[in-house]
Amino acid sequence: MTSSLYKENILDHYKNPRNFKRLESFNKKAFLDNVTCGDEMEVFLKIENEIIQNISFEARGCAISIAAMSMLSEKVKGIKTSEVTKIADDEVLKMLGMEKKTPRIKCALLSIQTLRKALSS
Ligand code: FES
Repeated sequence: MTSSLYKENILDHYKNPRNFKRLESFNKKAFLDNVTCGDEMEVFLKIENEIIQNISFEARGCAISIAAMSMLSEKVKGIKTSEVTKIADDEVLKMLGMEKKTPRIKCALLSIQTLRKALSS
């Protein structure tokens, strides 16, 4: 994907975030905020038989943090929790088309950090 396609994809997920709601039925959740900007992320998980049956999130944040969580929610729905714990920070950055040294790294990783926290809640 070219960098403009990555940007378009980020904007699309920001404007129309997937799974952006509070699940009515969930058995794990976590909240995290980005201390540098005060943005907030809350993730809800419905896990059965060690599989993520459903995931949703609510957030108040920048385009990157919301787009990252939206993409991540699509990626992990229906997969085993043991697979989710293997998702590395690099994979999230790659999904967004971002470099490791990006100044926006905290925005990009708020998603996976909140998801990891929810899994261990
Ligand atoms: Fe707050 Fe990106 S500016 S998470």
